[in-house]
Amino acid sequence: MRRKVIAGNWKMNMLPNEAMTFIEQITPMVKSTQNEVILCVPYTDLFYCLLGVQNTNIKIGAQNMHWEEKGGYTGEVSAQMLKSIGVEYVIIGHSERRQYFAEKDETVNKKIKSALQHELKPIICVGESLEQREQGKQTEIITEQTKLALEGLDSNQVKKCMIAYEPIWAIGTGKTATSEDANEAIKSIRNEIRNLYGDEVANEIIILYGGSVKSENSKELFSTSDIDGGLVGGASLKPEEFAKICLSV
Ligand code: PGA
Repeated sequence: MRRKVIAGNWKMNMLPNEAMTFIEQITPMVKSTQNEVILCVPYTDLFYCLLGVQNTNIKIGAQNMHWEEKGGYTGEVSAQMLKSIGVEYVIIGHSERRQYFAEKDETVNKKIKSALQHELKPIICVGESLEQREQGKQTEIITEQTKLALEGLDSNQVKKCMIAYEPIWAIGTGKTATSEDANEAIKSIRNEIRNLYGDEVANEIIILYGGSVKSENSKELFSTSDIDGGLVGGASLKPEEFAKICLSV
Protein backbone atom coordinates (compact mmCIF):
# COMPACT_ATOMS: atom_id res chain seq x y z
CA MET A 1 0.00 0.00 0.00
CA ARG A 2 1.32 3.42 -0.92
CA ARG A 3 1.12 6.13 1.73
CA LYS A 4 -1.05 9.21 1.18
CA VAL A 5 0.67 12.54 0.71
CA ILE A 6 -0.96 15.96 0.98
CA ALA A 7 1.25 18.83 -0.17
CA GLY A 8 0.24 22.47 0.07
CA ASN A 9 1.49 24.89 -2.56
CA TRP A 10 1.30 28.38 -1.11
CA LYS A 11 2.49 29.95 -4.39
CA MET A 12 3.36 33.67 -3.91
CA ASN A 13 1.37 34.07 -0.68
CA MET A 14 2.07 34.32 3.06
CA LEU A 15 4.45 36.70 4.85
CA PRO A 16 6.67 35.12 7.52
CA ASN A 17 4.39 36.17 10.41
CA GLU A 18 1.38 34.68 8.58
CA ALA A 19 3.35 31.51 7.90
CA MET A 20 4.30 31.15 11.57
CA THR A 21 0.69 31.63 12.69
CA PHE A 22 -0.46 29.07 10.12
CA ILE A 23 2.01 26.49 11.41
CA GLU A 24 1.10 27.10 15.05
CA GLN A 25 -2.56 26.60 14.20
CA ILE A 26 -2.29 23.56 11.95
CA THR A 27 0.24 21.58 13.99
CA PRO A 28 -2.22 20.23 16.59
CA MET A 29 -4.88 19.62 13.91
CA VAL A 30 -2.73 17.23 11.84
CA LYS A 31 -0.53 15.71 14.51
CA SER A 32 -2.41 12.39 14.61
CA THR A 33 -2.43 11.70 10.86
CA GLN A 34 -0.40 8.92 9.28
CA ASN A 35 -0.52 10.79 5.97
CA GLU A 36 2.51 12.76 4.91
CA VAL A 37 1.90 16.52 5.20
CA ILE A 38 4.13 18.88 3.23
CA LEU A 39 4.03 22.67 2.87
CA CYS A 40 5.76 24.16 -0.18
CA VAL A 41 6.35 27.77 0.73
CA PRO A 42 7.98 30.90 -0.76
CA TYR A 43 11.76 31.19 -0.33
CA THR A 44 11.34 34.00 2.22
CA ASP A 45 9.24 31.74 4.48
CA LEU A 46 11.46 28.66 4.29
CA PHE A 47 13.68 29.31 7.26
CA TYR A 48 10.80 30.42 9.52
CA CYS A 49 8.73 27.40 8.52
CA LEU A 50 11.62 24.98 9.07
CA LEU A 51 11.99 26.32 12.62
CA GLY A 52 8.23 26.24 13.13
CA VAL A 53 7.81 22.58 12.13
CA GLN A 54 10.59 21.21 14.35
CA ASN A 55 9.16 18.33 16.44
CA THR A 56 6.02 18.13 14.27
CA ASN A 57 5.03 15.73 11.45
CA ILE A 58 4.98 18.55 8.86
CA LYS A 59 7.66 18.68 6.16
CA ILE A 60 8.78 21.70 4.20
CA GLY A 61 9.37 22.13 0.47
CA ALA A 62 10.33 24.92 -1.93
CA GLN A 63 8.43 25.77 -5.11
CA ASN A 64 11.30 26.00 -7.60
CA MET A 65 15.10 25.92 -7.87
CA HIS A 66 17.90 26.37 -10.41
CA TRP A 67 19.75 23.36 -11.81
CA GLU A 68 23.26 24.80 -11.41
CA GLU A 69 25.01 24.62 -8.05
CA LYS A 70 26.23 28.21 -7.95
CA GLY A 71 27.43 31.07 -10.13
CA GLY A 72 26.20 34.00 -12.16
CA TYR A 73 22.46 33.38 -12.05
CA THR A 74 21.12 36.51 -10.38
CA GLY A 75 17.93 35.89 -8.46
CA GLU A 76 18.15 32.11 -8.51
CA VAL A 77 18.42 29.56 -5.67
CA SER A 78 20.14 26.18 -6.03
CA ALA A 79 19.33 22.71 -4.71
CA GLN A 80 22.42 22.86 -2.53
CA MET A 81 21.19 26.10 -0.95
CA LEU A 82 17.78 24.60 -0.19
CA LYS A 83 19.31 21.45 1.23
CA SER A 84 21.73 23.43 3.40
CA ILE A 85 18.88 24.91 5.45
CA GLY A 86 16.99 21.62 5.78
CA VAL A 87 14.42 21.73 2.97
CA GLU A 88 13.26 18.23 1.97
CA TYR A 89 11.04 18.71 -1.08
CA VAL A 90 10.91 20.93 -4.14
CA ILE A 91 8.13 21.42 -6.68
CA ILE A 92 9.54 21.27 -10.19
CA GLY A 93 7.84 22.21 -13.46
CA HIS A 94 4.62 23.67 -12.05
CA SER A 95 2.40 24.77 -14.94
CA GLU A 96 2.58 28.39 -13.74
CA ARG A 97 6.35 28.22 -14.18
CA ARG A 98 5.97 26.56 -17.57
CA GLN A 99 3.41 29.20 -18.60
CA TYR A 100 4.87 32.45 -17.17
CA PHE A 101 8.58 31.70 -16.78
CA ALA A 102 9.36 29.66 -19.89
CA GLU A 103 10.02 26.43 -17.99
CA LYS A 104 10.66 23.66 -20.55
CA ASP A 105 10.74 19.87 -20.28
CA GLU A 106 14.49 20.10 -20.74
CA THR A 107 15.02 22.45 -17.77
CA VAL A 108 12.55 20.43 -15.69
CA ASN A 109 14.75 17.39 -16.33
CA LYS A 110 17.94 19.28 -15.39
CA LYS A 111 16.36 20.55 -12.17
CA ILE A 112 15.18 17.06 -11.17
CA LYS A 113 18.69 15.67 -11.67
CA SER A 114 20.22 18.44 -9.58
CA ALA A 115 17.57 18.08 -6.83
CA LEU A 116 18.23 14.33 -6.55
CA GLN A 117 21.98 14.85 -6.56
CA HIS A 118 21.53 17.05 -3.47
CA GLU A 119 19.02 14.70 -1.83
CA LEU A 120 16.00 16.90 -2.31
CA LYS A 121 12.83 15.05 -3.30
CA PRO A 122 11.21 16.51 -6.42
CA ILE A 123 7.44 16.90 -6.80
CA ILE A 124 7.20 16.97 -10.59
CA CYS A 125 4.15 18.64 -12.15
CA VAL A 126 2.61 17.55 -15.43
CA GLY A 127 -0.75 18.42 -16.97
CA GLU A 128 -2.60 19.29 -20.15
CA SER A 129 -4.22 22.58 -21.15
CA LEU A 130 -7.95 22.91 -21.88
CA GLU A 131 -7.24 23.03 -25.61
CA GLN A 132 -5.18 19.85 -25.46
CA ARG A 133 -7.93 18.12 -23.49
CA GLU A 134 -10.58 19.23 -25.96
CA GLN A 135 -8.47 17.71 -28.73
CA GLY A 136 -8.33 14.45 -26.77
CA LYS A 137 -4.57 14.70 -26.40
CA GLN A 138 -4.30 14.64 -22.60
CA THR A 139 -2.83 11.15 -22.27
CA GLU A 140 -0.25 11.79 -24.95
CA ILE A 141 0.75 15.13 -23.35
CA ILE A 142 1.08 13.92 -19.78
CA THR A 143 2.89 10.68 -20.59
CA GLU A 144 5.33 12.58 -22.80
CA GLN A 145 5.94 15.21 -20.09
CA THR A 146 6.56 12.40 -17.59
CA LYS A 147 8.98 10.62 -19.90
CA LEU A 148 10.97 13.78 -20.64
CA ALA A 149 11.05 14.83 -16.98
CA LEU A 150 12.53 11.49 -15.94
CA GLU A 151 14.92 11.03 -18.87
CA GLY A 152 18.33 9.71 -17.82
CA LEU A 153 17.26 8.74 -14.28
CA ASP A 154 17.64 5.21 -12.96
CA SER A 155 14.90 3.30 -11.12
CA ASN A 156 16.19 4.20 -7.66
CA GLN A 157 16.13 7.87 -8.54
CA VAL A 158 12.63 7.67 -10.00
CA LYS A 159 11.35 6.07 -6.78
CA LYS A 160 12.48 9.18 -4.87
CA CYS A 161 10.34 11.45 -7.06
CA MET A 162 6.65 12.24 -6.71
CA ILE A 163 4.54 13.26 -9.67
CA ALA A 164 1.61 15.66 -9.49
CA TYR A 165 -0.96 15.47 -12.27
CA GLU A 166 -2.43 18.95 -12.49
CA PRO A 167 -4.68 19.66 -15.48
CA ILE A 168 -4.05 23.35 -16.20
CA TRP A 169 -7.76 24.09 -16.69
CA ALA A 170 -8.45 22.94 -13.12
CA ILE A 171 -5.83 25.08 -11.36
CA GLY A 172 -7.30 27.95 -9.39
CA THR A 173 -10.50 27.81 -11.43
CA GLY A 174 -12.77 25.90 -9.07
CA LYS A 175 -13.16 23.26 -11.80
CA THR A 176 -11.95 19.89 -10.56
CA ALA A 177 -11.42 16.91 -12.80
CA THR A 178 -13.91 14.19 -11.85
CA SER A 179 -12.34 11.55 -9.65
CA GLU A 180 -12.75 9.03 -12.52
CA ASP A 181 -10.98 11.29 -15.04
CA ALA A 182 -8.21 12.20 -12.62
CA ASN A 183 -7.71 8.54 -11.69
CA GLU A 184 -7.60 7.51 -15.36
CA ALA A 185 -5.00 10.20 -16.13
CA ILE A 186 -2.90 9.12 -13.16
CA LYS A 187 -3.17 5.49 -14.24
CA SER A 188 -1.81 6.45 -17.64
CA ILE A 189 1.17 8.15 -15.96
CA ARG A 190 1.74 5.06 -13.79
CA ASN A 191 1.57 2.85 -16.90
CA GLU A 192 4.15 5.01 -18.65
CA ILE A 193 6.42 4.56 -15.62
CA ARG A 194 5.72 0.81 -15.73
CA ASN A 195 6.82 0.70 -19.38
CA LEU A 196 9.96 2.69 -18.67
CA TYR A 197 11.03 1.41 -15.23
CA GLY A 198 9.04 -1.75 -14.49
CA ASP A 199 6.41 -2.88 -12.00
CA GLU A 200 8.23 -2.19 -8.76
CA VAL A 201 8.80 1.49 -9.50
CA ALA A 202 5.30 1.93 -10.95
CA ASN A 203 3.70 0.38 -7.87
CA GLU A 204 5.78 2.45 -5.46
CA ILE A 205 5.85 5.93 -6.97
CA ILE A 206 3.54 8.47 -5.36
CA ILE A 207 1.33 10.30 -7.86
CA LEU A 208 -0.80 13.21 -6.65
CA TYR A 209 -3.73 15.06 -8.17
CA GLY A 210 -3.82 18.87 -8.16
CA GLY A 211 -6.36 21.42 -9.37
CA SER A 212 -9.06 22.94 -7.14
CA VAL A 213 -8.74 20.27 -4.44
CA LYS A 214 -10.82 21.23 -1.39
CA SER A 215 -12.22 19.48 1.66
CA GLU A 216 -15.50 18.77 -0.19
CA ASN A 217 -13.83 16.74 -2.94
CA SER A 218 -10.58 15.45 -1.42
CA LYS A 219 -11.97 12.24 0.08
CA GLU A 220 -13.52 11.13 -3.19
CA LEU A 221 -10.39 11.94 -5.18
CA PHE A 222 -7.94 10.37 -2.73
CA SER A 223 -10.00 7.18 -2.32
CA THR A 224 -9.53 6.08 -5.94
CA SER A 225 -7.14 3.29 -6.92
CA ASP A 226 -4.26 5.39 -8.24
CA ILE A 227 -4.47 8.86 -6.69
CA ASP A 228 -2.08 8.94 -3.73
CA GLY A 229 -3.03 12.38 -2.41
CA GLY A 230 -3.05 15.98 -3.56
CA LEU A 231 -1.07 19.07 -4.41
CA VAL A 232 -3.29 21.80 -3.02
CA GLY A 233 -3.06 25.49 -3.90
CA GLY A 234 -5.79 27.90 -2.76
CA ALA A 235 -7.20 25.56 -0.11
CA SER A 236 -3.77 25.19 1.54
CA LEU A 237 -3.80 28.81 2.71
CA LYS A 238 -6.35 28.25 5.50
CA PRO A 239 -5.26 25.97 8.36
CA GLU A 240 -8.72 24.49 9.10
CA GLU A 241 -9.46 23.76 5.45
CA PHE A 242 -6.02 22.33 4.74
CA ALA A 243 -6.16 20.19 7.89
CA LYS A 244 -9.54 18.79 6.80
CA ILE A 245 -7.99 17.80 3.46
CA CYS A 246 -5.03 16.18 5.25
CA LEU A 247 -7.41 14.18 7.43
CA SER A 248 -9.93 13.27 4.73
CA VAL A 249 -8.39 9.85 4.00
P1 PGA B 1 -5.35 25.13 -6.80
O1 PGA B 1 -3.82 25.05 -7.24
O2 PGA B 1 -5.55 24.07 -5.74
O3 PGA B 1 -5.54 26.52 -6.26
O4 PGA B 1 -6.17 24.86 -8.00
C1 PGA B 1 -3.14 23.83 -7.35
C2 PGA B 1 -1.72 24.06 -7.81
O5 PGA B 1 -1.51 24.96 -8.63
O6 PGA B 1 -0.79 23.36 -7.37
